[in-house]
Amino acid sequence: MSVQLSDSPEDSFSARLLGWYDRSARVLPWRYPPGSDAVPDPYRVWMAEIMLQQTTVAAVAGYFRRFIERWPTVADLAAADDADVMAAWAGLGYYARARNLLACARAVVADHGGRFPDTEDGLRALPGVGDYTAAAVAAIAFGRPSVVIDANIERVIARHRLITTPLPAAKRQIRADLAPLVPSDRPGDFAQALMDLGATICTPRGPACGICPVMADCRARGRSDVEGLPVKPPKKAKPRRHGVAYWIEDAGRIWLVRRPDKGMLGGMRALPGGEWGDAPSSESAIVHVDHGFTHFDLRLGLVLREIELAAGEGEWWPLSALDAAGLPTLYRKLTDKMRERDA
Ligand code: ADE
Repeated sequence: MSVQLSDSPEDSFSARLLGWYDRSARVLPWRYPPGSDAVPDPYRVWMAEIMLQQTTVAAVAGYFRRFIERWPTVADLAAADDADVMAAWAGLGYYARARNLLACARAVVADHGGRFPDTEDGLRALPGVGDYTAAAVAAIAFGRPSVVIDANIERVIARHRLITTPLPAAKRQIRADLAPLVPSDRPGDFAQALMDLGATICTPRGPACGICPVMADCRARGRSDVEGLPVKPPKKAKPRRHGVAYWIEDAGRIWLVRRPDKGMLGGMRALPGGEWGDAPSSESAIVHVDHGFTHFDLRLGLVLREIELAAGEGEWWPLSALDAAGLPTLYRKLTDKMRERDA
């Protein structure tokens, strides 16, 4: 099998990895297949990398297609209404990314004539573009030999090099070990090959070492603790917070508000409600949902309230079109429960 033939340490790490990628690359909606002569569209590459932060390939695919269809160029996105973009993002989570997506598209149009900067430093200066995204877009869209490190790549390198220092301290060594491996001719494919290897073979649990294209010189191969690499810092217990949301219904419509731009779910449409706090509310809720955020778990109760509370900024939204409101998952869970209850 060609996998065996190419897995010789005499071939460089990148040659073996890229050979495997040429045969086995995942087909993904934002991806230019290996060997394709298409010139990558930086807008598509950037959009995918923003969506893929903290989010799985499976969850992103549909969103990516819908965004590109609706806003095919960075100028289209820059001209979009904030509310439309936030609603289209609903369900993908980490909503600061959507606000930054718009801010970035507008900066590219206003400050760069509608063209993305083509260097890592230039990209990093854009809103919402951090070290990872700048490196990934520079490599994939512009062929820059940047060192791209996401969680999959971190795992592959920590194992291949048997880096036993716990994260996050291990990051420095992972970067130092990876940097000299990046090939100058195919840095974008190299980064995506490592991502694919981490997602399909060098998986967190039950890695398929027997078919790995870089097993011959993998220092973790055959060790019983391979799943323990990279070593993670101890998990902190998440605090639980509590909140209530109000269901204010009148004539087949409910009252919706927009959350403040700053803070959790900023800028998203939402049910009205009070601040979230450490103690349960004294108001009696008809249903509850639990929702995990990165730094805390929230228990949110739904309280029926009278229509006089529908005052100030907000809008009456037809219940029959609730799916189109773009409610974040937290509120969707509550409205789904209300529907079940009424069914
Ligand atoms: N995760 C983040 N970026 C990715 C990409 N370009 N391909 C596959 N998985 C990814």
